[in-house]
Amino acid sequence: MKRVKRFLMLVVLIAPSSLIAQESPKQQVLPDITSINVHSLGPQRISSLPPVPVPVDNPQTSMKVQLGKQLYFDTRLSKDNTVSCQTCHSPSMGWSDAGPTSTGINGQKGTRRAPPVSNAAYNPLQFWDGRAASLEDQAEGPMQNPVEMGNTLDNVVKTLNSVPGYVEEFKQVFWTTPITIDQVIKAIAAFERIVITTDSPFDRYIGGDRKALSPLEKQGMAIFNGKGHCTSCHWGPNFSDGRFHNLGAVQTGPLNVDNGRYDVTHNPKDMSAFKTPTVRDAGLRPPYMHDGSEKTLESVVDFYNKGGGDNDSNLDPLIVPLGLSKEEVKALVAFMSVALTSSNPEVAHLKPVHTSELPK
Ligand code: HEC
Ligand code: HEC
Repeated sequence: MKRVKRFLMLVVLIAPSSLIAQESPKQQVLPDITSINVHSLGPQRISSLPPVPVPVDNPQTSMKVQLGKQLYFDTRLSKDNTVSCQTCHSPSMGWSDAGPTSTGINGQKGTRRAPPVSNAAYNPLQFWDGRAASLEDQAEGPMQNPVEMGNTLDNVVKTLNSVPGYVEEFKQVFWTTPITIDQVIKAIAAFERIVITTDSPFDRYIGGDRKALSPLEKQGMAIFNGKGHCTSCHWGPNFSDGRFHNLGAVQTGPLNVDNGRYDVTHNPKDMSAFKTPTVRDAGLRPPYMHDGSEKTLESVVDFYNKGGGDNDSNLDPLIVPLGLSKEEVKALVAFMSVALTSSNPEVAHLKPVHTSELPK
């Protein structure tokens, strides 16, 4: 009996990986780049996005999403009524900002680049260092951050409770008064869960439209999966492993040394490691990296091509010189900038809520 159980467990363990191997034969031609077996890191598939994960205690409703959308664009959440989430995560800038790092109230400069809100719902952990476990956890941060919105949560709640239009809307969504901070962050997170980009040429291609990608973009996709081994880290539907890596870049942000993930875990292996960002829609939001240090996708690829930075003894072993030709660099850039750029009208061209349309 015991043996049968053990056998069944083995089947369960083995089955998914053999399925994966069949679905992505390209993985088998990956060059052996280091002593580390990149295959052991996980299913390195890139694919279309599955339905967005929704926590049981914050179900999506259309009224909640509408409410969250208004809050997202409302500068009244900040201390001096000048900054909203949109200030640093603008739909027209790939849900990020002009960078290199963000600017909050009173023109204060933050120390990191604003990652996109689009598809953030798929991140297992939020922020470059993963210090928040969910969108709900995350949303409290910027309101209280002295450099970003500079407010207190008590004051946010007080302000919203003084706006009769909001009191009425929150009551319709949550069935209670007065408004609480828990409701505010739930509504914002519900809105963020509809900011999903599912309609890129890449998505159409894997959906069966073989003409959706140009020959150059197809070549770029093959390099992304193969010679460039970008899928060692940028894998899965959202092109991110959700893990933390040190690429050895010389840090150019306002912090001389940003410890990244280390400040959360205190594990020396995490020193200056940052979360792998999605590359979906990356073409819409230069500059790149946690400190905005790379101005273009070409310069990002050049950086990888020469084996990352040589700044750090903690350099991730998966970062090695790639030997890509100029043509291959061009193809990789075309794949990211064209094939991965979505055209969902409701996300890529979402019309911000104007101040005059907000509850009074
Ligand atoms: C002043 C600029 C600024 C404002 C305002 C701002 N953010 Fe951010 N946001 C950032 C920066 C910078 C980071 C990355 C910080 C870090 O990793 O330490 C970030 C991170 C995030 C993330 C994590 C994404 C990821 O991939 O890890 C989400 C989600 C997010 N912000 C949503 C919001 C929401 C919702 C609001 C409004 C309540 C908001 N932000 C307001 C600059 C801003
Ligand atoms: C070892 C894991 C790893 C590998 C391999 C890797 N990346 Fe990255 N990538 C990351 C991490 C981590 C960051 C963020 C680093 C930072 O901010 O300091 C990043 C950042 C990026 C960015 C910037 C995105 C943004 O919004 O700032 C792009 C574009 C990118 N990578 C593309 C690629 C390409 C193309 C390849 C293959 C040639 C590749 N990556 C290989 C982990 C990796």
